[in-house]
Amino acid sequence: MGDILVLEEYNPDTWTYSGEAISRKVIYKLAGGFGLQDGFCVLGMGLLDTEANRPGRLRLGTAAGKENTMRYGVIRDTVAMTLPLEGDMAEIGVWRGASAAVAHGVAPHKTLHLYDTFQGVVKADSSVDVHSNGDFSDTTVETVREALGWTLDETRLVFHVGEFPSTFTEQDRKFCFVYSDTDTYFGTKATLAIFAPRMVPGGKIMFDDYEWHGCPGVKKAITEFLIENEGIQHAIAEPRQFILTF
Ligand SMILES: C[S@@+](CC[C@H](N)C(=O)[O-])C[C@H]1O[C@@H](n2cnc3c(N)ncnc32)[C@H](O)[C@@H]1O
Repeated sequence: MGDILVLEEYNPDTWTYSGEAISRKVIYKLAGGFGLQDGFCVLGMGLLDTEANRPGRLRLGTAAGKENTMRYGVIRDTVAMTLPLEGDMAEIGVWRGASAAVAHGVAPHKTLHLYDTFQGVVKADSSVDVHSNGDFSDTTVETVREALGWTLDETRLVFHVGEFPSTFTEQDRKFCFVYSDTDTYFGTKATLAIFAPRMVPGGKIMFDDYEWHGCPGVKKAITEFLIENEGIQHAIAEPRQFILTF
């Protein structure tokens, strides 16, 4: 009871997930009796506390598509593993809010810090990065508010507009889940420097674009971190997700 289920919409005709999902809390469990077969139970589901007055669906918009649908699944599972932990969540590299909407959808009761210039990539270094400054500038804070608006509890979403890590002011906060998606060596390196010391035990930092030819700087920054911090548990998940567990 109290567990949160993430229900993904599946199309049995095409064997694909549509990219839409809803989260529901288990509020009732009937196990045994009333003609139920052994090993089966009946669950009653309710709205999450934060969406009690705003029922709605998580919309992933145009970013859906097979690869992104898989990526959203890994993000969902990883956030779900951190649900019992204390601490805030963060995303560095938000763009139009699709991955942030997934994380927020699983844990709408947790504070989510959103770091982006909202003017595109910065500090791209052509010796390690493929992206250029200004890539992904087609977004606004309002676009992201809309993407996350389905369960919007304004107090849980904290926008940090500008160049990370200068916009980081949460020196005294602890974090349970961080999604790093800046596409650059600089952004990945800065994410590790800022968040690694602030993760709760069991907390996870997840990186997009690991071993993606379009973002070689991401792998370089992670590799340097692993060399300097031997023994940190890590895993690679398809597609191109790298997960550190503290
Ligand atoms: C690939 S997009 C993020 C995509 C998003 N996570 C998703 O899955 O929908 C990369 C974003 O990183 C942001 N970015 C890159 N370096 C940054 C930095 N140092 N500070 C703030 N934002 C940065 C860009 O503005 C861009 O919006």
